Amino acid sequence: MTQELTRSAREAARTRLTDAGVWDVEGDLDALQERFLAPGTPTATARFEAAVAERCRRIPLGHIIGSASFDGLELVVGSGVFVPRHESTALVAWAADEKTLPYEGTALDLCSGVGALGLALSRRRPDAAVTCVELDDTCLQYLNRNTARHQAVLGRVSVHAADLTEPGCLDAYLGTTDLVMANPPYVSPDVRLLPEWSEHQPRAAVYSGADGLDLIRRIVVLAAAALRPGGHLALEHDRAQPEQVRELLRGDSFEEITTFTDTAGEPRITVARRTDHGGTG
Ligand SMILES: C[S@@+](CC[C@H](N)C(=O)[O-])C[C@H]1O[C@@H](n2cnc3c(N)ncnc32)[C@H](O)[C@@H]1O
Repeated sequence: MTQELTRSAREAARTRLTDAGVWDVEGDLDALQERFLAPGTPTATARFEAAVAERCRRIPLGHIIGSASFDGLELVVGSGVFVPRHESTALVAWAADEKTLPYEGTALDLCSGVGALGLALSRRRPDAAVTCVELDDTCLQYLNRNTARHQAVLGRVSVHAADLTEPGCLDAYLGTTDLVMANPPYVSPDVRLLPEWSEHQPRAAVYSGADGLDLIRRIVVLAAAALRPGGHLALEHDRAQPEQVRELLRGDSFEEITTFTDTAGEPRITVARRTDHGGTG
């Protein structure tokens, strides 16, 4: 493809993406051009056009290009799984600190999807043992693939297929875990989302009960039981609900409950320390 053709295809696509309401037109154009308009391939323009048309239908960019960058890892993704968000890397940075996760400690990544948080933590802290817990079969396929793909830069990573709403799902980890982290489904059906999330990500990855907090409530109970005294919990949640999440954590089991911002400056990450005493709920 000549430079002139590339330029005109890009300019036409810019207008279409802008009209479709895509928010990062230049960033998406760069990714689509790199993936689909590589010089020298005769069908490049047709493939680029098809990709732009999908993006105009608000299919997530990751589903179109088949991968998403997350905290230094290129993760394979596709339709049927949640595309990791760069904003969640703030949670990983907190989790990877040795004040949060001691040397050679153990961590659970609940609702791990394609493995973003768990694998990124393992890359930053290969001394730790990380277990990724996920329910969905399609996610588990991607999770296993991503784990194998990045094996050379990871520490010990295990995958535990489990439904967190089932009794006894984390019985193997009771009272021994140094860190529990989760980016679970947390959106209430009343919240209006962009089509990338409301239409094209799996519903079970986005919504959780009438107020969005059903799975977070369950994770608070599970984390209280799984963590050792002094262990840490980190939760990603809706930017409108930090107070509700902190309230769920108040009680005998957690202390030092704090909310901080993700990389976009939104108050979406709440962390807490397991008390040295107290119940499991
Ligand atoms: C918002 S996505 C997050 C994925 C990943 N943690 C990330 O940050 O990219 C939530 C994930 O929770 C999983 N999930 C939903 N309900 C679950 C349950 N009851 N037990 C285990 N995983 C569940 C979904 O399949 C989905 O992969």
